[in-house]
Amino acid sequence: MAEQQTKIWKNSNKHIQEAAELLKLGKLVSFPTETVYGLGADATNEQAVQDIFRAKGRPSDNPLIVHIGTRDVLKQYVSDVPPKADQLMDAFWPGPLTIILPSNGTLAPNVTAGLDTVGMRMPDHPHALSLLQASKLPVAAPSANRSGKPSPTTADHVYHDLNGRIAGIVDGGPTGVGVESTVLDCTLATPMILRPGGVTKAELEAMIGPVDVASSVLEKGEAPRSPGMKYKHYAPDAPIWIVLGGEARMRQVAEQAAGGGRKVQFLISKERAQELGIKDALILGSRSQPEEMTSKLYELLREIDTMDVDVVLAESFSKEGIGEALMNRLERAATEIIE
Ligand code: TXA
Ligand code: MG
Repeated sequence: MAEQQTKIWKNSNKHIQEAAELLKLGKLVSFPTETVYGLGADATNEQAVQDIFRAKGRPSDNPLIVHIGTRDVLKQYVSDVPPKADQLMDAFWPGPLTIILPSNGTLAPNVTAGLDTVGMRMPDHPHALSLLQASKLPVAAPSANRSGKPSPTTADHVYHDLNGRIAGIVDGGPTGVGVESTVLDCTLATPMILRPGGVTKAELEAMIGPVDVASSVLEKGEAPRSPGMKYKHYAPDAPIWIVLGGEARMRQVAEQAAGGGRKVQFLISKERAQELGIKDALILGSRSQPEEMTSKLYELLREIDTMDVDVVLAESFSKEGIGEALMNRLERAATEIIE
């Protein structure tokens, strides 16, 4: 695609206005949300949406999430809002929850990759909300990374992946949650989590009762409910092995790997680094602060690509609360799980 000058905007009113005008003209604009940076385009403009797929190198059968800045516009794009979906929006919007609803066909068809449902979300970030409200558009926005790479949690990450391919980036500093929104299919009688994320299963169930969780392992020939589930994600160039068990097992696997002449790096908690007596590991944070570990994951996955390393040994963490999303992303980035 044609090279373009990628602008970087800071958060001034003037800059948000300029970014909103470019969105209206069908250009691609990256913006921060509370989860990760998104790559936005006018969701009613088929050509602009097509450009998102091209800029990211994203397979065209993987649908995009539509971002809105006010709740009253929702009914323009969906044909039904079940009561449970309404309750969830009351509780979690703006916030890291994407709700899949039946589409009414108003949006550009490539946004939903031909599905009759659409994922809607109201992000909890002042710049994102200003941009959405200034443009008065529904904005289709996947994460602003090249397809297959970790989602961006800083404007620098976006620039690294998409410089020259997009009109600009609204720089709002590092994002908070650090992994993408929870995707919940509310077209089913019992809503189903298609992707774990910033809002946990327990938080959802506290509001609406039981929710199902889509299996992350597909049976042969089974179509995924969420098309994104079938693609490999977040993977750095060096393979990641998740090592189950404790410190002794990790030391053993590290010795074996290094014995084969490989350069070994570690992606671990502060506690595990202490147990192993390693100083230069990639440290996610403390096991007692899973939110902090989650917010650092993608930055450290990207750092791996700047290092001279043959294999990365990652710790396995508790799947309690946000740990479910953390381990989901780590497992999808990993090439092996070692018992
Ligand atoms: O936090 C987030 O959700 C970020 C920020 C930018 O909002 N966005 C994001 O978008 O992660 P993306 O495109 O990277 O991931 C969207 C996921 C994909 O796994 C896709 O398959 C799924 O949502 N999805 C979107 N629409 C769907 C639909 N109608 N039915 C099922 N899954 C859908
Ligand atoms: Mg993505």
